[in-house]
Amino acid sequence: SDSVNIAIDGPAGAGKSTVAKLVSEELGFLYIDTGAMYRTLTLAALRKNVNTLNEIELSHLLSTCHIQLLVDQKGSRVLLNEEDVTEDIRSTEVNQNVSLVSSYQSVREEMVERQRQLAIKTNSVLDGRDIGTYVLPNAQLKIFLTASVTERARRRHEEQLSKGMPSDYEQLKADIAKRDELDSTRAFAPLKKAEDAIEIDTTTLSISEVAQAITDLAKERT
Ligand code: C5P
Repeated sequence: SDSVNIAIDGPAGAGKSTVAKLVSEELGFLYIDTGAMYRTLTLAALRKNVNTLNEIELSHLLSTCHIQLLVDQKGSRVLLNEEDVTEDIRSTEVNQNVSLVSSYQSVREEMVERQRQLAIKTNSVLDGRDIGTYVLPNAQLKIFLTASVTERARRRHEEQLSKGMPSDYEQLKADIAKRDELDSTRAFAPLKKAEDAIEIDTTTLSISEVAQAITDLAKERT
């Protein structure tokens, strides 16, 4: 295809989504939040009492889920069968179940297919865990964002508080560490830096510094 794709991977809370949004706005690219897709399936499973240990039921459920990622005047939103679930997919319960739901091969194959369909026709910035290694191995630019687990938990904590949501820092830190562990050790397409990805440790960098660095790299390469 002729479209340009930028892959941004890394562990939970490294700033991928904030940075990916800024980069996509700056370049006029579509932002594809692949984590939101796995979160939406997880929410659907929790609501319908689908057992998250049952791969077959989960992939059947996925076939009934129309997941849309939109950007409009309200910001970026996620729709599940036309219902706005933007807030609901960020709940603690979703956080605690999403890594299991996204560990199944059949679930991932369907999600990856949907992600490739979106990316193939549009210049886009995708954030996730396996974009550079598996979804788009030929992406023109691959970034691997990291930060210490303490810093990542601190950022999520601040983010929750700034939205007026309840937040427990120690709980967040434990959940993030657990997700990292599950995401990095799963058998199929685990979280891993692609060999040709550029690693950026964001622990001491501001969001705008990181976004600027990636935008500059993108302009050099495209
Ligand atoms: O990026 P975010 O933290 O919203 O992703 C939520 C979870 O979805 C991750 O912890 C991971 O388990 C899963 N995920 C994935 N592959 C992706 C994106 C997210 O397995 N490409």
